[in-house]
Amino acid sequence: MVDKARRSAFVCQQCGHAAPRWLGQCPGCGAWSTMVEEALPAPRARGARETRAGAPAPRPLAAVRAGAALRRSTGLAELDRVLGGGLVQGSVVLVGGDPGIGKSTLALQACGALARQGLPVLYVAGEESPEQVRLRADRLGMAEAGVLVVAETAAERVAELIDETRPAAVVVDSIQTLHTSALGSAPGSVGQVRESAALLVACAKASGVACFLVGHVTKEGTLAGPRVLEHLVDTVLYFEGDGAHALRVLRAVKNRFGSTNEVAVFEMGESGLAEVPNPSAAFLAERPAGAPGSAVLATLEGTRPVLVEIQALVSRSGLAMPRRTAIGLDPGRVALLLAVLEKRARLPLHAEDVFLNVAGGLRVDEPAADLAVVAAVASSARGRALAADVAVWGEVGLTGEVRAVGRAEVRLREAARQGFRRCVLPASNARGLAVDGTRAEGVATLEQLFEVLALA
Ligand code: TYD
Ligand code: MG
Repeated sequence: MVDKARRSAFVCQQCGHAAPRWLGQCPGCGAWSTMVEEALPAPRARGARETRAGAPAPRPLAAVRAGAALRRSTGLAELDRVLGGGLVQGSVVLVGGDPGIGKSTLALQACGALARQGLPVLYVAGEESPEQVRLRADRLGMAEAGVLVVAETAAERVAELIDETRPAAVVVDSIQTLHTSALGSAPGSVGQVRESAALLVACAKASGVACFLVGHVTKEGTLAGPRVLEHLVDTVLYFEGDGAHALRVLRAVKNRFGSTNEVAVFEMGESGLAEVPNPSAAFLAERPAGAPGSAVLATLEGTRPVLVEIQALVSRSGLAMPRRTAIGLDPGRVALLLAVLEKRARLPLHAEDVFLNVAGGLRVDEPAADLAVVAAVASSARGRALAADVAVWGEVGLTGEVRAVGRAEVRLREAARQGFRRCVLPASNARGLAVDGTRAEGVATLEQLFEVLALA
């Protein structure tokens, strides 16, 4: 679609090759389905330099003001923590997650909490009517809050509204519904989503208005198809959890203004999301007593220790290629651990299906989960339950050695706080470690682990 007023080109997202029309395969690098429509800058007279009125001049770094003054609390303490200590003015936060996970609820609650501090907020509803937003607000008990709501899907108009109303924060729900007249492609296409987001990012930076963009995750698990939005914005938060559970985890995967380690735990209830002050207790609430295949892991979510239950089911497979399913764990890591168990601990698993799950819908990515995975699998395979008062953590190496992991004391304290009497951890971490009433038992190999856990 080449149009004089509407200058755009199709640009390969991998190599940057530009073409005047859409192509299935990029002629530059040969990649398929990577051509995305992008707006081109307005043409300039030859030799003319771009000059902008009011463009910023360089100034000494020491004269640049930064810090607490530019941040403000959203009023939701857990959200603040994930954002790195509050919402930064002029920052753009992308909130991604599966449909129905609670993104709109979170966004509206954040609006309500900001409005209750007397700050003006604008809620741009692209998917729902203002009436529907009002119904949800009633359910969340925030009808009195001063939130401006508008149903709008034109990105240019949203930018105008931000300039007109000058809110403290704006929520765009969702970015996939926006479209810009700069491109000819259909709303929802990657080019439209990207250009609309770019327009709002520019608007947020210019006006100092903090902007939440809500985005649906596609089946491939990326936001809006390719990760094009992720590098446009300052902060990317993922809202996770499985629909069957009420627990939700909000995780920062990118943050220009803080650590990406922080997570917040919420519980979806009848009147919206409630912060969960004691996530360990929530994640262990339904732990079965005396069942084989269950191990409690003391993991770290950011700087915060959390106890979660790792469940394993090992059962005889009728398949030539036994199944390995891991929910909430890295499948590659699980395959490695099963191979180590088979080879170093002589636990025959080659004819067994192995299913692993992190109870409560949490994702655990740190190697410290290894020891709990191994313990849960061995417990299920041998049909012997672990003691109910033991928590484990540690990394497992390829020779079956147990390797040190960070922050053993923090984990031990959390286990003690939740009433666990014994912790099994890497021997090199256990030295000199003590918390009243909870024993730290160091293991250096898988054999020792199974001995200590009575699984040998
Ligand atoms: P929603 O925020 O609409 O999800 P998303 O924007 O991510 O698609 O929330 C969807 C689910 O949350 C929906 O199934 C209803 C449920 N819910 C509650 O359980 N309690 C509540 O107070 C609200 C507002 C929603
Ligand atoms: Mg929604």
